[in-house]
Amino acid sequence: MINIKNKSSIQKMEKAGSLLAEILLKVSEILKPGISTLEIDSWIENELKKNNLISKAKGYKGYKYATCVSINDEVVHGIPDETKILADGDLVKIDVCASWNGYCADMARCYFIGDVSLEAKKLVEVTQKALDKGISKARVGNRLSDISAAIQQEIENHGYGVVRDFAGHGIGKNMHEEPEILNYGRPGKGPVLISGMTFAIEPMVTLGDYDVFIDRDGWTVKTKDKSLAAHVEDTIAITDSGPKILTRLNLNERVI
Ligand code: MF3
Ligand code: CO
Repeated sequence: MINIKNKSSIQKMEKAGSLLAEILLKVSEILKPGISTLEIDSWIENELKKNNLISKAKGYKGYKYATCVSINDEVVHGIPDETKILADGDLVKIDVCASWNGYCADMARCYFIGDVSLEAKKLVEVTQKALDKGISKARVGNRLSDISAAIQQEIENHGYGVVRDFAGHGIGKNMHEEPEILNYGRPGKGPVLISGMTFAIEPMVTLGDYDVFIDRDGWTVKTKDKSLAAHVEDTIAITDSGPKILTRLNLNERVI
């Protein structure tokens, strides 16, 4: 069953989302060669506390950290680690899900450390564009897989890979709710979208093949061919006037 949220629930998710968006904007100031992914996690955890946000990752299936930080061929779910040190040219993905007064927002962004390749920049640009195209289909009357198909089309038009093994999800009081939102598929399938549905949409995109595996640490998802991967995520609400993006600060970026 897909939970439908009322205005006041969506307002709380929006508050969580805007606080999270501020943190994921400000974190770029500390991202320099030499910093460890554990230091990034500690900095974010402290910011979450200051803003009365509660991390939903910490404690989830035994996960011990507030965030996921994934570098280069790590796609998602990178475990913060004091021995993982950022270097010039790295593509870093930071993913945080947190609740404010019981309601969640889930968000991920890509960051460039120093000078990165043109390839990496292009990959991230297309991944963000794919997310926007997916969000633009999150409209009353459309079907769920219209979102999936739009994401896949944008990614494959550029010759990149769509990771199949992980997906977006409904979100609300819980980090993960129904439905599962695939990043690929044919349009016109699945439930009809209605006002009050809230989704976390998160394309995971590879420069090479889309096959991934889980590292020996039990969490970190990596590309099999060691190719570079990008991941961005926004939490959105479907409203009668279109999709509303809850994890963006700029007013003109919040509607599509
Ligand atoms: N934020 C991730 C998601 O989009 C989940 C991270 S939870 C963790 O679903 F426990 F894996 F860290
Ligand atoms: Co998510």
